[in-house]
Amino acid sequence: VESIKCQEYSIFFNDWDSLNGFISEGNYSSLMLIVDENSRKHCMPDLLQNLNHDFLIIEIASSEKNKSLETSKSIWQKMVEHRADRNSLCVNLGGGVIGDMGGFCASSFMRGIDFIQMPTTLLSMVDSSIGGKLGIDFNGLKNLVGFFKDPKGVFIFSNFLKSLPHRELMSGMAEVYKYGLIKDLDFWNAAIAPNTLSADLLDSFISRSIQIKKEITDQDPLEKGLRKILNFGHTIGHAIETANLEKEGHLLHGEAVALGMIAESYIANAKRMLSEQELKMITDSLLSKYDFPEHIILETEIIYGFCLNDKKNRNHRILASLITKIGKSEYNVEINKQEIEDALFYLNNKLK
Ligand SMILES: NC(=O)c1ccc[n+]([C@@H]2O[C@H](COP(=O)([O-])OP(=O)(O)OC[C@H]3O[C@@H](n4cnc5c(N)ncnc54)[C@H](O)[C@@H]3O)[C@@H](O)[C@H]2O)c1
Ligand SMILES: [Zn+2]
Repeated sequence: VESIKCQEYSIFFNDWDSLNGFISEGNYSSLMLIVDENSRKHCMPDLLQNLNHDFLIIEIASSEKNKSLETSKSIWQKMVEHRADRNSLCVNLGGGVIGDMGGFCASSFMRGIDFIQMPTTLLSMVDSSIGGKLGIDFNGLKNLVGFFKDPKGVFIFSNFLKSLPHRELMSGMAEVYKYGLIKDLDFWNAAIAPNTLSADLLDSFISRSIQIKKEITDQDPLEKGLRKILNFGHTIGHAIETANLEKEGHLLHGEAVALGMIAESYIANAKRMLSEQELKMITDSLLSKYDFPEHIILETEIIYGFCLNDKKNRNHRILASLITKIGKSEYNVEINKQEIEDALFYLNNKLK
């Protein structure tokens, strides 16, 4: 897998030399490494062994629940204790929670210090570490407070996936399937076919996913238009994720997105945008990949309520991104409460 060079920053694959070089050339006054207990245990030893630099470690407790202002405060506190200054570098070693929140804390500390992303989950490798969105959850709403800001670099080591639980790996695969559905029929076919995911396959999926995401976010970094297609499955998916956040054994982001993609494909079909045959293919394929927890909250009033909070909406109308066939998508498509209710009914029946 080749590294992808772009104007603002580069994305490197399995390349410790480039990371060592980047850090040396930066002449940073200090290096802070943000981890959670899992990335500390499974990924940090490898990092420390491969880099000839000393790090000040900031550990936070894993979980979406901690992607909060309280945790951010503790990160800033640690930065102060470590005497970080404008010339410090923040290295975010972890999944999307660490990447989003570590980037958020770095970008606001002293009006912004350099940071790099070292994603350790499949989801963060193919999605959250690319595209410059940073943030935290607030007031029970996901990613409500944050910035658009690019890292100085993204350094991907697919070896880190070896310790990732299968359920987390499949959560990341949901975004991989999404890229196929919105942009590339051949990629969808390649991603959905295999029953086991070898390291080589994963490398190729990561590479193609990043290509698609970069292509879209480079054209529309601030999500004024085109970038919205990346939100396919996310209007209803985010709502389902939020509705089930407090539940024991709650849904993972990608699992909620997989359900959202089925529901939104149903709506696309109801609007006569997507064929019956493709709806069936998407539904059956996605359902075959996941063991969803029992008793997922799918009540219309609750899900519709969260859909109303979606950041893509305008003038209190719910605007979704839908597909018109596998590999083609449209954004700013209005969906209404009845359509959401019907889609949830469809989903509920399929889950039984
Ligand atoms: N910024 C964006 O554009 C964007 C896009 C998509 C998702 N997100 C955000 O990403 C977050 C989800 O990311 P995620 O799925 O990576 O979740 P996560 O960061 O919570 O990681 C999932 C779990 O895996 C553990 N883990 C991480 N790396 C590991 C490894 N190599 N081995 C074993 N365990 C490991 C973590 O400790 C955690 O328990 C959400 O907050 C979501 O909002 C952001
Ligand atoms: Zn997502």
